[in-house]
Amino acid sequence: MDITNLTIQDTVNKKDLPDFNNLVFGKNYTDRMLTISYSPEKEWHDAKIKEYKNFEVSPAMTCLHYSQEIFEGMKAYYREDGNIGLFRPKENFLRLNNSALRMCMPELDVDFCLKSLYKLIKLEKRWIPNLDNSSLYIRPTMIGTDAMIGHKASNDYLYFVILSPVGAYYQTKGGLRIIAEDKYVRAVPGGTGEAKTGGNYAASLLANKEAQLKGYSQVLWLDGVHRKYAEEVGTMNIFFVYKDKLKTPVLNGSILPGITRNSVITLAKHLGIEVEEYKLDINEIAEDIAAGKITECFGSGTAVVITPVSTICYKGKDYNIVNHSSESLTERIYKELTDIQYGRTEDTFGWTVVL
Ligand code: COI
Repeated sequence: MDITNLTIQDTVNKKDLPDFNNLVFGKNYTDRMLTISYSPEKEWHDAKIKEYKNFEVSPAMTCLHYSQEIFEGMKAYYREDGNIGLFRPKENFLRLNNSALRMCMPELDVDFCLKSLYKLIKLEKRWIPNLDNSSLYIRPTMIGTDAMIGHKASNDYLYFVILSPVGAYYQTKGGLRIIAEDKYVRAVPGGTGEAKTGGNYAASLLANKEAQLKGYSQVLWLDGVHRKYAEEVGTMNIFFVYKDKLKTPVLNGSILPGITRNSVITLAKHLGIEVEEYKLDINEIAEDIAAGKITECFGSGTAVVITPVSTICYKGKDYNIVNHSSESLTERIYKELTDIQYGRTEDTFGWTVVL
């Protein structure tokens, strides 16, 4: 698709901006959205930037019944030099296309997605909070739109992008308390764990609710076969800091291949830290925390950025992670990453796109 095919609605209603100092994640949406339609005859067509509005959909829509839905999460930042920056946006669209293949949906033109997103963000720039730790969260989404409850892949699709100004995802001070889940599973080999599809998140809600009732914020998912190997946390990938190394579960087909995860690994190696990606046995993790070998634990993700974890509960016992050192690798990685994202340092990795 050629970017000249994008039509832009001239005037839209301008909403009042929310208080950027008190943002609740995902509560406020900007004035405009982007939509592109797909049909087998016309392929991707009718690309529009228009007023943010509710959709009118068929109650029989494929997405509502069979969850043919995929999405991404990205952020736009106000950089220190006053320009707007995006972090590795192409990676998100490549991952969206991988999710599309898994969910039997049409692939998007990555170049068109990038260029149309840049236009949308420039139009909506008043919504980007110019504050530390704040950004404009971007949610590209694709849904199957056929009015058809026969069980088959939709013919028609809608791709849309909505934008939401956000601050920190977790307000918790002092690190998250998470619980290793050995009753429910999130994903199994051959399933959809690697795809960013709503069903994975729906399937995790009950376990999250039960965890919260017990006083934990999130679930640490274990693998679906042995219920033994750590995989990921509901909203983030997970890292464990040992004295001289960083360990994280190896991507095995049922873990979301996080773009922040990949950036953390690259940054850590660049800082001279050895990174090990392998099957992390929860029993070993518990023992290593108890023995003081694991000195830090953190999660990574677009929404959560780098979020420290203070406690992992396993089989009813809390393992508290105690870092006796004044230097925390979690802090260091957080600073390296956000300095690049907010344009406070030179990006030697070529990750940022400046609009
Ligand atoms: C993201 O980090 O962008 C996500 O999609 C996680 C979501 C649960 C907020």
